[in-house]
Amino acid sequence: MPPPQDGVDDSAARVPLLPPPAPRRAAVRLHPLPLLIAATLAASYRLLFLAPAPSYYQSLLLSLGSNDTAAAHLHALTIRPHLAGTGANALAAAHVAATLSSHSFRTRLTSYSVLLSYPAYRSLSLSAPDRDTVLFALKQETYAGDPYEAVSAEAVPTFLAYAASGSVSAEAVYANYGRAEDFAYLAARGIDVTGKVAVARYGEVFRGDIVRNARDAGAAAAVIYSDAKDYAAGKTFPDGPWMPPTGVQVGSTFKGVGDPTTPMWASSEGCERLTIAEAMSSDDMPGIPALPVSWKDGETILQLIGGDVAPENWQGGDGAAAYRFGPGPAVLNLTYTGNETMVTIQNVISVIEGGEEPERYDQNPQSPYPQYLLPNSNLGKGHCIIYSTNPSVGSSIQPECDGWKFNLR
Ligand SMILES: *[C@@H]1O[C@H](CO)[C@@H](O)[C@H](O)[C@H]1NC(C)=O
Ligand SMILES: *[C@@H]1O[C@H](CO)[C@@H](O)[C@H](O)[C@H]1NC(C)=O
Ligand SMILES: *[C@@H]1O[C@H](CO)[C@@H](O)[C@H](O)[C@H]1NC(C)=O
Repeated sequence: MPPPQDGVDDSAARVPLLPPPAPRRAAVRLHPLPLLIAATLAASYRLLFLAPAPSYYQSLLLSLGSNDTAAAHLHALTIRPHLAGTGANALAAAHVAATLSSHSFRTRLTSYSVLLSYPAYRSLSLSAPDRDTVLFALKQETYAGDPYEAVSAEAVPTFLAYAASGSVSAEAVYANYGRAEDFAYLAARGIDVTGKVAVARYGEVFRGDIVRNARDAGAAAAVIYSDAKDYAAGKTFPDGPWMPPTGVQVGSTFKGVGDPTTPMWASSEGCERLTIAEAMSSDDMPGIPALPVSWKDGETILQLIGGDVAPENWQGGDGAAAYRFGPGPAVLNLTYTGNETMVTIQNVISVIEGGEEPERYDQNPQSPYPQYLLPNSNLGKGHCIIYSTNPSVGSSIQPECDGWKFNLR
């Protein structure tokens, strides 16, 4: 579906606003002439527009203090799941661009073709001697009266973007938060992770690092679950704010920035690119199959992992059965097939001119692509901070919107 353009100033779509960052890899041939032209156009770009006076931004900022505004934007941005590369995400981008344009920010949408990752096939089963095999549904359940029930079918199945495709059936080893020190501790205890399925919980390090640490420790696959201790410490949704039993944290496991086929250089049309196979074998990729699961499924797995009891700071919350290291006797059969494919996405680029040094650009990548989002997650949050930034929270602008240099004096 072509991205909707309603209400969006796209007249300068082919004029890069910022000069592309210089490539870090010397082996890549970038032609200097287009870069020079791009830099020149970027430099003259601001002259093509009549920017509002700096005091305009100040009064706009002072007028945006309402929670209602934030709630309305959050609602509009999260009304449907908007996975990167989908029509719903193009609509979300158009909403952002239209809103920023309506406040006289110089805004435009720019399309990029980037490597995204979608799940094509997932399955996870758990077996142990004298036990029936459990085939996990890998599905987030809705609740009675869920207003998102109708659109939940649009949500992408739970997965970890850029996980390697493959099928692994092996004993499970519990790896706490999947930090390097957790795997070092397992090694010190003589627990061999080689060829096993590492089971780790979310909460301390980037999910991509959990999978990479598992890979580096020799694991053949990884499962990441949300522990009830960390994510369901009170009433769960919809009765309270905590994660429901089948809720799953999803997201990218790519450690690099931007499009994996253009590491550290702009993903512009016709540019030099890695092949998909090269990008997928980069060290910034997890390199092994991996799946995220809910705290309910995590609990089921942990109950069948035997061996020595893990230390206190590896345990679950009050009432949870003791967690043990393994390996086994639980055997996990994890099968994942990813679909890594080049997809067109839209970036929203908007400029707020500073009172000092207006010719300097500070990038505030509030909405870094690729995004893997379900309703009410990061995209909405970031934008509501921007739209609704107000003087009463002035001191929190800097940390929350890194790179913004508003002068509220
Ligand atoms: C917005 O809501 C929060 C949380 O309820 C409250 O603390 C804050 O004072 C409200 N801000 C405004 C401007 O109404
Ligand atoms: C693991 O599960 C897949 C189905 O997703 C199946 O094809 C495969 O045979 C299973 N492997 C083992 C060892 O049971
Ligand atoms: C991979 O994703 C692309 C883009 O969404 C789609 O056209 C293609 O059919 C998918 N292939 C598989 C094997 O799922």
